[in-house]
Amino acid sequence: MKICVVGTGYVGLVTGTCFADLGNDVICVDIDKEKIEKLQKGICPIYEPGLEELLRRNLKEGRLFFTTDLGHGTENSEVIFIAVGTPPKQNGEADLSFVEDVSRKIAHTMKSYRLIIEKSTVPVQTGEWVKRTISRYNTHKIDFDVASNPEFLREGSAVSDFLKPERIVIGVESERAKKILFELYGPFGRPILVTDIKSAELIKHASNSFLATKISFINAISVICEKVGANVEKVAEGMGMDNRIGQSFLKAGVGFGGFCFPKDLSAFIRISEKIGYDFGLLREVEAINEEQKKNFVKKIESALWVVSGKTIAILGLAFKPNTDDMRFAPSIDIIRQLETEGAKIKAFDPQAMGKAAEILKDVEFCDGPYEAVEGADAMVIMTEWNEFRELDLNKIKNLLNAPIVIDGRNIYDPEKMKKMGFNYFCIGR
Ligand code: UDX
Repeated sequence: MKICVVGTGYVGLVTGTCFADLGNDVICVDIDKEKIEKLQKGICPIYEPGLEELLRRNLKEGRLFFTTDLGHGTENSEVIFIAVGTPPKQNGEADLSFVEDVSRKIAHTMKSYRLIIEKSTVPVQTGEWVKRTISRYNTHKIDFDVASNPEFLREGSAVSDFLKPERIVIGVESERAKKILFELYGPFGRPILVTDIKSAELIKHASNSFLATKISFINAISVICEKVGANVEKVAEGMGMDNRIGQSFLKAGVGFGGFCFPKDLSAFIRISEKIGYDFGLLREVEAINEEQKKNFVKKIESALWVVSGKTIAILGLAFKPNTDDMRFAPSIDIIRQLETEGAKIKAFDPQAMGKAAEILKDVEFCDGPYEAVEGADAMVIMTEWNEFRELDLNKIKNLLNAPIVIDGRNIYDPEKMKKMGFNYFCIGR
């Protein structure tokens, strides 16, 4: 099939590359000229396991093209995915100006039937707006359909999530659109849920909000565990043994981050407000997440007694492992607060230091975990990269000024740490 993907962010780039790998002819469009030039050369602008290899293979085999010319994409593809950014506005609402702009341009450039599919996470009813906008600028009255096909991939495992999704959701209004989407997704051999457009849009927001709720719930439980001396991991395990609850997304930590949960949550709260529903539950999910970061700073403060003048080694900066994404990473707020209190920060992250350096100007970035820890007054685990689980802890102890470890991701065994002579602090254990 001939496909155009507009927007080469996480979702757009993975979508385009994977569809090409499945044998489709794909044109990826972006307004960022520099990014397109890099992609044309097979340079992946993000760190995502397996993506660059796929990108190069499909470029070489001639199934994947990158351009800044949306008209070229629209003219040469029957199916057009809109995967442009929907960044948060000052008030938390999603900014849909890119979606609107692309819809207008598609209307101007299409010459025969096109299926336009929303892939970005958008507020419910955006499909209607896309349809209205295209109709308005579609001066030649060309036939078209709009559909919603939300993407559920996670950063760090985006390629495999895209190719082996637990479900494929398609929101359609016509048999023609449904047929095309079945043709496209049939080869995946995964369950497909067909629904109307608004329900498809809501499935995405509701899923992300529900997952964020699970994380805030277990983080709140971790606070109670600390107060009474219980173990949040055991509590989560016991809860998760009930199939209705499940084990996943019950890991207490420093709070959720990334470009999806914080942004989608506040967008969903605003949409609900707009249509006359006060989603208090989700406001609390947000508040608990903010509180969790503050609690972590307090934990560091109480471990060190005085923060001012101390050197703190931070291991992990990205909002989760296997990504270099720093957007809304909890490490940003936590490091800024520690710096405000007069701490010097040395940090190491296997992938995110380049992006972190653009945000955290006063941090000393180190070449490895041992270099970060050398001469520091405490080691703080912020992201659970696997390599941090395998550190030589005896060496760490010798390199630190004092054997203090504050583990925001519960990657070490408290008993073992105690036996080794560490002052070890973690979350809810
Ligand atoms: C999320 C959704 O999972 C995905 O379906 C959607 O398409 C985009 O948003 P992503 O942001 O890539 O994906 O990361 P995810 O793995 O979901 O983690 C989000 C945040 O929650 C991270 O900061 C992570 O550390 C945190 N988290 C996750 C926890 O603190 N505890 C958990 O148990 C799980």
